[in-house]
Amino acid sequence: MDVGVIILAAGKGKRMNSDIPKVLHQVLGRPMISYVLDAVRELKFYRIAVVTGYKSKLIRDYLSGENIYFAYQGEQLGTGNAALCAKYLFDEYDGDVLILNGDLPMLRPETLTGLVSCHKESGAAVTLLTTVIDDPKGYGRVTRNAKGAVTGIVEHRDATAKQRKIREINAGAYCVKSEFLWNALEALNPSNTQHEYYLPDIVHLAIEGGGGANAVPAEDGMEVLGVNDRRELAAVEGALRRRTLGELMDSGVTIVDPHTTYISSQASIGIDSVIYPNTYILGRTAIGWGSRIGPTVWIEDSTIGHDVVVNFCSHIRASTVNNGATIGPFANLRPNSAINSGARIGNFVEIKNSRIGHGTKVPHLSYVGDAVVGDNVNIGAGTITCNYDGFSKHTTVIEDNAFIGSDTMLVAPVKVGKRATTGAGSTITEDVPPDSLALGRAKQTVIRDWERKPPKNRAKESRDKAKG
Ligand code: UD1
Ligand code: CA
Repeated sequence: MDVGVIILAAGKGKRMNSDIPKVLHQVLGRPMISYVLDAVRELKFYRIAVVTGYKSKLIRDYLSGENIYFAYQGEQLGTGNAALCAKYLFDEYDGDVLILNGDLPMLRPETLTGLVSCHKESGAAVTLLTTVIDDPKGYGRVTRNAKGAVTGIVEHRDATAKQRKIREINAGAYCVKSEFLWNALEALNPSNTQHEYYLPDIVHLAIEGGGGANAVPAEDGMEVLGVNDRRELAAVEGALRRRTLGELMDSGVTIVDPHTTYISSQASIGIDSVIYPNTYILGRTAIGWGSRIGPTVWIEDSTIGHDVVVNFCSHIRASTVNNGATIGPFANLRPNSAINSGARIGNFVEIKNSRIGHGTKVPHLSYVGDAVVGDNVNIGAGTITCNYDGFSKHTTVIEDNAFIGSDTMLVAPVKVGKRATTGAGSTITEDVPPDSLALGRAKQTVIRDWERKPPKNRAKESRDKAKG
């Protein structure tokens, strides 16, 4: 069941009061348009065309490399004109075309599949998605005749007082036969209060022309919430968040406080994992089963294994934490860190672009950057990999079972061999061979019979001495 897809994204979104095109405003950390794209990508499609206009480049840059075709609408003359701008991308296509407003981030793929299959079954020229909502203000209303058949769409601003009482609205998703679509779009006229070419006008053209129009009601009214202003943006954020959390809870994840938990719809979490309050799990994060995350944790685009504990106030980005590892409290895993199974990263530890081996411990107050650390290594408190010489970054290698004394400065590039030890407070500038002890610190000096005195006495004594 192939469809061609057109996503309308050329509008400015006047009611957002923004310099950013509306479809790039974010919901749970991702632009709205990416949700629409996710949903259509679940369908079998001929190609996806996105119509851009206002701040076109920003949208095209964001979507670059995504196998999307672009059409340009030079002047925002309305949704009907926007769809027509994509015509040339479908010259060699004669199947059904799915047209979607770009501001519908809650739309589910199942709903689109339902719309497309209804359209194919009924044989109508146009099938549109509708829903009945309590507050239909601003939306196009679906008009029906005495028999209940759809007769057209009337925009809020053009509607009579009686029509405004209709609570069935046009969601902004249409499936249309090619052979009808392009002619209908060219036949539109802007005789309405906004002097725009309205895409929904193709509905009455289909009825007049004999092709017929059909409406499919969406199951869940929330799903077709369009975002026109920032209040609606916040409402959609809340609704999407609740939907994602609900699905996770149904699948076996404990969310202690859904009111303060933010999980991206792209994240996955295994059963019996527990997410404590005030936690953010964003991007394409995957968490295994039986892990405990939070409270107050931020994890973004990372892979976390089973039975992992991420404690209070930890921050993890673009990293991997394997089974049974413990992170935090107050740990910072910066991009490209790989923490292997059973490792422990403790409080006030920063790891960047490093591999930490199985069972290795970095328990307190350390910086490990650009390092390859083996298995069962112990890194004492206050250790720092001095990876930057002011010009470039260098690697530190610490091999299996090494013991790094507290407050060791490892001046990279440097390597500590297997089972080697560095003395506390050492500055290590040369490689340490396996099975050896390296000390790089000043030898302790002891001054015997030295009496501590208050500074003013010392001053007096030296004056007396000077006087002789
Ligand atoms: C539209 C529908 C309305 C429906 C509602 C559902 C029209 C005329 N009205 O109204 O019946 O109930 O969606 O949410 O279509 N766009 C362009 N070029 C333009 C104008 C708009 O590409 O010249 C794009 C926008 O970027 C947006 C989409 O089309 O993604 C919808 O435009 P918007 O102004 O939000 O339409 P609504 O007033 O919400
Ligand atoms: Ca809208």
